[in-house]
Amino acid sequence: MPIGVFDSGIGGLTVVKRLSSVLPRESIVYFGDTARVPYGSKSNATVIDYSIQNTNFLLKKNVKAIVVACNTASSIAIPELRKKFTVPVIGVILPGADMAYKETRNGRIGVIGTRATINNNAYSNAIKEIDNKIEIFEKACPLFVPIAEEGWTHHRATYEIAEEYLKELREKKIDTLVLGCTHYPLLADVIQEIIGKDVKLIDSGIATAEVVRNEINRIGLETNSAVPGNLDLYVSDIPTTFKQVAELFLGRTINEVVKVDIEELHKI
Ligand code: DGL
Repeated sequence: MPIGVFDSGIGGLTVVKRLSSVLPRESIVYFGDTARVPYGSKSNATVIDYSIQNTNFLLKKNVKAIVVACNTASSIAIPELRKKFTVPVIGVILPGADMAYKETRNGRIGVIGTRATINNNAYSNAIKEIDNKIEIFEKACPLFVPIAEEGWTHHRATYEIAEEYLKELREKKIDTLVLGCTHYPLLADVIQEIIGKDVKLIDSGIATAEVVRNEINRIGLETNSAVPGNLDLYVSDIPTTFKQVAELFLGRTINEVVKVDIEELHKI
């Protein structure tokens, strides 16, 4: 049985990349809701609705667990998904929060994400739950999503926008910065340069992959395959630059991407 992974678009492929290195023999079915991205500026009700549809789609592919590889959907829809479905549902917020808490030395953590993730205080609530003495400084960086989708990982404009977004955080003396959106690891070089080389960047995909491994072991559904797992990619639209940007996200070549009819998804 494969692992099901979804995101609002192709950002979740940064999580797939981590999953494939931690669990190379597990097959993955990925759904990117490219026709309806971004989720970060939508209402909570819409994000919940879409997340339920995405999960239903993946369950039809017979997946053994759902990884919500989107911070926005993780911060809004996980309780609803856990109520509605019996398979394990794993989000990216708690693993990322935990990793940030373990990394910080001075107790000052920055978080960047979509407007929805930041407005929902997803990371600050999760980190405060672990230790309420930690100081958290958050900043929504909505333009990073289209920039990442455009593949502008080292563009001059990316440096300028990053400077604009991150200058306040630089003054807060943070020693750890959570990349609270699965698109952002693609811009890690620019973000690192602007925020300063002494600040540790947290890619929650790394921590999430470990949680998925533990969860699959716990339910006793690890694959017994001896060969590398498959990656099946489904999207609700195929943007012209999809293949190029997806390969950038994954760091490897991809063969086939299947477009799913959004109307069919509504009917599931
Ligand atoms: N990848 C999504 C996340 O991690 C952000 C993209 C969006 O706004 O849909 O929050």
